[in-house]
Amino acid sequence: MKDRVIAIDGPAASGKSTIANAIAERLHIPYINTGGMYRAVAWHVAKHGVNADNINEDALREMLASLTLDYVADNSGKYEIRVNGEFPGEQLRTPEITALSSPLSAIPAVRTYLLERQREFAKLGLIVMEGRDIGTVIFPNARYKFFLTASPEERARRRLCQNGEVVDGATLESVAKEIAQRDLQDSSRPVAPLKQAADAIPIDSTGLEISQVVDRILDRIRSHYSTYRVSYGDTDQMGVVYYANYLEFFERSRTEMLRDAELPYRKLEELGYYLPVSEVNCKYFSSARYDDLLTFKSWVSEIGNVRMVIATEIYCGEKRLVRGLVTLACVNTKGRPCRIPEVLANACPIISL
Ligand code: DC
Repeated sequence: MKDRVIAIDGPAASGKSTIANAIAERLHIPYINTGGMYRAVAWHVAKHGVNADNINEDALREMLASLTLDYVADNSGKYEIRVNGEFPGEQLRTPEITALSSPLSAIPAVRTYLLERQREFAKLGLIVMEGRDIGTVIFPNARYKFFLTASPEERARRRLCQNGEVVDGATLESVAKEIAQRDLQDSSRPVAPLKQAADAIPIDSTGLEISQVVDRILDRIRSHYSTYRVSYGDTDQMGVVYYANYLEFFERSRTEMLRDAELPYRKLEELGYYLPVSEVNCKYFSSARYDDLLTFKSWVSEIGNVRMVIATEIYCGEKRLVRGLVTLACVNTKGRPCRIPEVLANACPIISL
């Protein structure tokens, strides 16, 4: 079983917090900023006289033993970090705490301490968790993984616009240098270095609006993507995909979607549900030919009482070739209509973009 986690990793100032927060709001699910936890440790130990030059793992271990970190939901459902009963809030974002959190995050005792706390959040149901190692170490089995980047200049520009996060008199150049140094520290440390998980979807947000990045991520969460190379059997004598074969493509795409959502037809049948096709609507825009590499994209566009509609779009490169809406009826072992089971509704979230 995959963990019900949307992991968003990436380097400093790549827009992770803004994006992760927006995703959580759109999906009405909790958002956990793990960078805030490293900053909270920095805030706690700084009070005990720790700075970047005198870090000692044994002393830190003792300090961690007297640390209680938790998240408290406010009235709007937003989670705020609490450190030994206090809410540090904006104090976690000062340049001093930012600078101390990076070397602290390279200390194994700190990472082990936070790893356990971070994994506990899985019991909240679907969550968005943001950091450096969520998709690689904390939840390597997360259902959704994204790796957010942006050019160094753009990240420096964004950081400079965030009041209180840079020292007085900071310039684009000095901020870019500070970010580059943190990138180097975060990605070259031996434990849980910042790196893209092999199965994470990379998103470069340079030049994109926040809403564009959010929509791109939401599209990947709701949709199943796969590729398919057109064979001879799919085409007519002219080498053009025979129109009725798109129905098979739709079927192939939605079968894979259900399988990847860990609810293959076989499992549904074991539970006593069958999903026969009851209606198909198709709109053709352009034709596909022998040997074209196609992209299939499917998502659940509607769930009713006893039926669901699955949309499939087929692309060749950027060009959309066809769009299909397939209605599946839900029937029981006696062939009578029955309610769409909750497992099915939960497996494929409906997200309007
Ligand atoms: O995302 P941020 O800037 O708030 O993170 C602060 C520091 O914490 C950053 O320098 C790297 C570290 N960090 C980490 O090592 N692993 C995480 N999952 C999150 C943050």
